[in-house]
Amino acid sequence: MRLSAQGLLRGFTLLLTFGFPELTFAGDAALSEAIYRHGVLPSGAPLVADREGGVRIEGVTGACVNCHRRSGLGMKEGRQTIPPIAGSYLFHPRAGTADDLDLPFVEGMRADRDPYTDATLARAIRDGIGADGKPFSYLMPRYQLGDTEMASLIAYLKQLSPGAVPGVTESVLHFATIITPDADPLKRQGMLDVLEKFFIDKNHYVRAESPRLRSSRRLMFKVNRHWELHVWQLTGAPETWEKQLQAKLAAEPVLAVISGVGGRTWAPVHRFCEAEALPCLFPNVDLPIVSENDFDSLYLSKGVLLEAQLIAHELTTQRDESKVHRVLQVFRAADVGEEAAGALAAALPDERFAVVNRYVPAGANTRELAAAIRKAGGADTLVLWLRPADLAALDPVPPDVASVFMSGRMGGLERSPLPAAWRTVTHMAYPVDLPERRRVRLDYPLGWFRIRQIPVVAQEVQADTYLVCGIVSDTINHMVDTFVRDYLVERVEEMLEHRVITGYYPRLALAPGQRFASKGGYVVHFAGRTGALLIADGDWLVP
Ligand code: HEC
Repeated sequence: MRLSAQGLLRGFTLLLTFGFPELTFAGDAALSEAIYRHGVLPSGAPLVADREGGVRIEGVTGACVNCHRRSGLGMKEGRQTIPPIAGSYLFHPRAGTADDLDLPFVEGMRADRDPYTDATLARAIRDGIGADGKPFSYLMPRYQLGDTEMASLIAYLKQLSPGAVPGVTESVLHFATIITPDADPLKRQGMLDVLEKFFIDKNHYVRAESPRLRSSRRLMFKVNRHWELHVWQLTGAPETWEKQLQAKLAAEPVLAVISGVGGRTWAPVHRFCEAEALPCLFPNVDLPIVSENDFDSLYLSKGVLLEAQLIAHELTTQRDESKVHRVLQVFRAADVGEEAAGALAAALPDERFAVVNRYVPAGANTRELAAAIRKAGGADTLVLWLRPADLAALDPVPPDVASVFMSGRMGGLERSPLPAAWRTVTHMAYPVDLPERRRVRLDYPLGWFRIRQIPVVAQEVQADTYLVCGIVSDTINHMVDTFVRDYLVERVEEMLEHRVITGYYPRLALAPGQRFASKGGYVVHFAGRTGALLIADGDWLVP
């Protein structure tokens, strides 16, 4: 990976928020961040290291972030723990046990050794020799770094140390949820009901103020903090949202954004979270932002973009190769179908598919929409990126059309009001587990809603919100009292794979760098006399 201008900029803004005065210093810090995160030396040359057996690693493969993580707090993978290397963990005075350290508990922290000095730390990084003179295991590479490069890297490790985190006080953890003005009102209400009840439940169990026992840290008991939810309702045009969010964050610092609902675009919210390095955990959005280098925004799935990939896979593998297929895609202006249609068109090879996109004005009535489809112009394949109200009002299937694909996410999954005549020819992108397979996994949240008298008005959104609350709650428990935003994201990545309760999704996982927890879906068709039955066309597909 090259050091991108964006990477530099992020380093720069990081420092601005930390309030370093001189520009030159900020520039340097961005360069040392590039060593740590991207394996790029200030000269632009790749970082070089040796591993056991004379294996040489270079550039991003050797970047510290791969093992010690972005937070510098290390990780545990199987039986291997990778120690924290944030400054305060390297330079702390020797202590008897980890409990005696006045540092937030992290797995793999080392108490019983002399503190590093800049010189012994340089030796550790170059020659793999610890503060106490013992050599490290082969897992820690031996780096070739000049003196100024080393000084810059060590300065970076020093500033990684966890300090006070906005949104965390002695007794309260503050979270926000973000709602855009164009969010569907039912989804909004459904999500808020779940969040509010979850927070009430959570706080019900907060014990009375008790003195913090040091030895308790390792046992994963901690002072339970009260969870407080701030609802950040945005107003006005998307261009103004970032400013609004900045003002809200300044007024009510939060540790993370939990869930949320969006409409046409989530991009300004995504940009805000990345710029502020604020974890934004799994909002309910149909159109998430796909960006390789982003870190703080996690999504349950790629939404309609994943559906476009599923449909593209089906069309390219199942269609007769000897003729050119005419595909007509229909969507409303000002809805997410536009991007989905673009993604599908881009994924279909031109020589086999002639794709026409037809959009219907946002305010057009369902008659006008039906007319647009009637004029399908000889298309043999229709792709409908439409919401339930539009689907319900469809005219008969145009005569030339042999098959139809539709977005399950936009169209309401199995509850879609698609007319019966359409069901015989329609395949639906279905980016969640099949109803009978997910039933057991959904019993729990649905029971939880029932007991708390939460009306089920948008089942998928509500189940996803409940899932996200559970993920965040489990993660926070495992973090003990180490509240560092990057670490929160890293721990979510780590714990996700071990979750049994995964709601609508067959499995969830986030390898470092991945931002979409569920990666596949089905393509299904309708069956049964009334077309009420769903049958998968094939296996779960990861396009
Ligand atoms: C491939 C994984 C890997 C990468 C990449 C890596 N490390 Fe390590 N590092 C380890 C492991 C494993 C240990 C523990 C080794 C041991 O104690 O035997 C370690 C230990 C250390 C220690 C000693 C910590 C202590 O408390 O004594 C320091 C300092 C360190 N690494 C710095 C770095 C720096 C700086 C980079 C990037 C330039 C880096 N590491 C890249 C795996 C890695």
